[in-house]
Amino acid sequence: MTAVNHRQVSNGAVNSWSAIRFEAELSLRRLAPRMEAVWIAEDADQTLRNEFETRLNEHWPAVFETLHKLYGDRYDFFYHLEQILITAVKAWINRPETLREVDRHRINAPDWFASEEVVGGALYVDLFSENLGRLRETIGYFKELGLTYLHLMPLFAVRPGDNDGGYAISNYRSIDPRLGTIEDLKLLADDLRAAGITLVLDFVFNHTADDHQWAQLAQSGDCEYQQYFHIFPDRRMPDRYEQTLREIFPTVRRGNFTWHDGMQQWVWTTFNSFQWDLNYSNPAVFRSMLEEMFFIADMGVDILRLDAVAFIWKQMGTSCENQPQAHLLIQAFNLLARIATPGLLFKSEAIVHPDEVVKYVSSEECQISYNPTLMALLWESLATRETRLLVRSLSHRHKLPDGTAWVNYLRCHDDIGWTFDDADAAEIGINAFNHRQFLNEFYTGQYPGSFARGVPFQENAQTGDMRIAGTLASLAGLELAIENDCEEEKERGIGRMLLLQSITLSIGGIPLIYLGEEWGMLNDYEFVKDPAKAGDTRWIHRPKMQWEFLSELDDKIESGGGSIRKRIFRSLQRMIAARKSQSAFAGQVMELITTGNHHVLSFVRINGGNRVIVIGNFSEEPQTIIGNHLRTAGLGRFFQDAISGRNYGTSEDIQLEPYQYLWLCRV
Ligand code: GLC
Repeated sequence: MTAVNHRQVSNGAVNSWSAIRFEAELSLRRLAPRMEAVWIAEDADQTLRNEFETRLNEHWPAVFETLHKLYGDRYDFFYHLEQILITAVKAWINRPETLREVDRHRINAPDWFASEEVVGGALYVDLFSENLGRLRETIGYFKELGLTYLHLMPLFAVRPGDNDGGYAISNYRSIDPRLGTIEDLKLLADDLRAAGITLVLDFVFNHTADDHQWAQLAQSGDCEYQQYFHIFPDRRMPDRYEQTLREIFPTVRRGNFTWHDGMQQWVWTTFNSFQWDLNYSNPAVFRSMLEEMFFIADMGVDILRLDAVAFIWKQMGTSCENQPQAHLLIQAFNLLARIATPGLLFKSEAIVHPDEVVKYVSSEECQISYNPTLMALLWESLATRETRLLVRSLSHRHKLPDGTAWVNYLRCHDDIGWTFDDADAAEIGINAFNHRQFLNEFYTGQYPGSFARGVPFQENAQTGDMRIAGTLASLAGLELAIENDCEEEKERGIGRMLLLQSITLSIGGIPLIYLGEEWGMLNDYEFVKDPAKAGDTRWIHRPKMQWEFLSELDDKIESGGGSIRKRIFRSLQRMIAARKSQSAFAGQVMELITTGNHHVLSFVRINGGNRVIVIGNFSEEPQTIIGNHLRTAGLGRFFQDAISGRNYGTSEDIQLEPYQYLWLCRV
C-alpha cells in the first residue's frame, strides 16, 4: 500500500502545488490513526491537541512537499514521514508548559528578536565561570552590561582529548560532566528567562564525534548505523568527491576523508578527523537529529545556532557546500519546529560567500544569521582606513527579508576569513586576491606599520590561503600599544575597538559581543601548553574570564592598565544603554549616507518616525563631514549625540576625532 502510493507520487502525479496539497492531506489522513494512538497513550489534554493540530494543518503541506523533495524517491518514504510526524507530536506533548507559554507569546510577536533591546553575548562556560552552577550566579553581570541574549558555546558530552571546542559531541542528551548536568542547564535556562535573557545553544547537526553512539555502532559493523555516515571501502568515491571539494581544516589532515583502522574504511570528515559528517540522504538521520533538536529545545533554549549549515548535503561533482538540499533540510527542521516548538528560532552559521550566506536567512529557514561579511569588512576598513569596500557591500547586501535579522559581531570563537565578494572589490578597483594577501599580512602583524597582533589559522601553503585568529583588542592594536607602552597607540587601540562596536550596535540586527571584549582582553598565548588545544590557534582568542577585573570598575585611578579596562567596559556599557534608548535601532532599515569622505562610514537608521544618523571615522586622522550632507537625512537642523549627549547643528561642519563615532538623533 505504502509502496503503491509512493510510486504514484514519484511517477510525476505530484507535479503541481494542488497535487502536492492533495497528497499531503491524504498522507495526513492516513497517519491520523497513528497520531491518535500517541495522543491517547500520552493522555494528552484536548487543548494541547487542538493547538498542535491547528499548526499541523497550516504547515503539513509544506512539510510533506519539502520531505518529498528530499526523500520522495525512497520506497520507505511514508514510513519515515510517519516517524517524523510522531516525533513532532511527542515533542509538543512533552514540552514543558513554561516553554509552551513562551511559544504562545511568540506566535503573536514573531519578530521579538528585532527589538533595540536585544543585545547578545557569547561565552565558553568553563572559561567564563567554570561550570553551569556558577554561571547562574553571574546573571547579574550580564544584566549590568545590558545583555539580553546569551550564547553558550557547546556544552554537551564530548570525546576525550581534542573536541574542537565542544563541537565534537558524543551525546546530545548529556552535559559535559565538567560543566554540570542537564538539570543545571534547565535551572540556568529558568533563571535566564526570569531575568529576560534568551538562551542560545548550538545545534551541531552536520557531524557527531567519532565516539557518539551512532559512530560506535557504525564502527562495530552495524549496517544501519554505517548508513548514518558517509563511509567508503576504498578511495574511489572519496577521490571523485575530492576533485570539487575545498579543504576546511588543511593543517589537520589533507582532504576531507579519514581512514578508520577499525572499520578499514574511509569516513567523510569535513572538519577534524574525529568529526564524522552525518549522511542526510538517509531520512533516518533527519529523524534522529530532529529528536535531538527537540530534546535540546526543551531544556529551555530560545534560539538554536545551526552549526556549519553549508556542509550538510553532499552531491558528487559539486563543492558539497550550499546545496539546494541543505536549504530543504533546514526548511524541514524549521517547519517541524513551527509545529512542535513554535517559539524556537534558528540562527545560521554560514561562513561562506555573501551571496550564499543570505540564502539561509528567511522565516522559512533561519530567522537570524551571523553577518560574516560585515565583520570581515569592518576589519578591512580598519586596516585600509577606508570604507569604500564596506560601503559598496552594504549598499546591496544589508537588506534582509521581513521577519529576519543579522547578528552583527566583530569576534567570535572562530577565525576571521575574508569572505567579501571579489566583484564588489573589483568594482572599486581592488584585486581581491592581492587584497586578501594584504589583509592576512596586516592582521598577522607582518605588514609594515600594522597595529594588529593576530596569528594565522589553517594556513594552506599550497593555496596561500589563511584565516586570522586573535582577540578584538589584540587585532585592534591594544596589545602592541601596551607592549610598546605607547599612550597614543593605546588610545588608538581603544578607539578602534569602540568604533567597531559602535557600528555593530547600531547598523541593524542583533549585536553580539564575544565576552572578554568588554575588558579588551588580549591574546592568550598559554593555550599551547594544553596538548588538546595546542594545534588550534583559535584558542588564542578564547581567554579565561578574570573576575578580578570587576574590582577595577570601582578603581579611582584614572591612568594605567586598570583604567584601560574600566574605560572599555564603561564605554561599551554606555553604548549598549544608548542603543536601547533609541527605537530607531529596532529592525533592519538602514540607508547609507554619502559624505564624500572615504574614511568615514555614515548611515541613517529609521524605524517608524524615529531616526538616528550614525557616523564613524575609520582613520587615525581627524576628518570633517559637511553638515549640509546630513540635513537631508531627516534630523532637521539640530541634533544630539545619543552617546555623549553633545549637541550639533547641520549649519556647521562636523569635526571627527580619530576613530570617533556619533549616534545623532533629534534634540
Ligand atoms: C563551526 C564552529 C567551529 C567548528 C566547526 C565544526 O564552524 O563555529 O568552531 O570548528 O563548526 O564544528
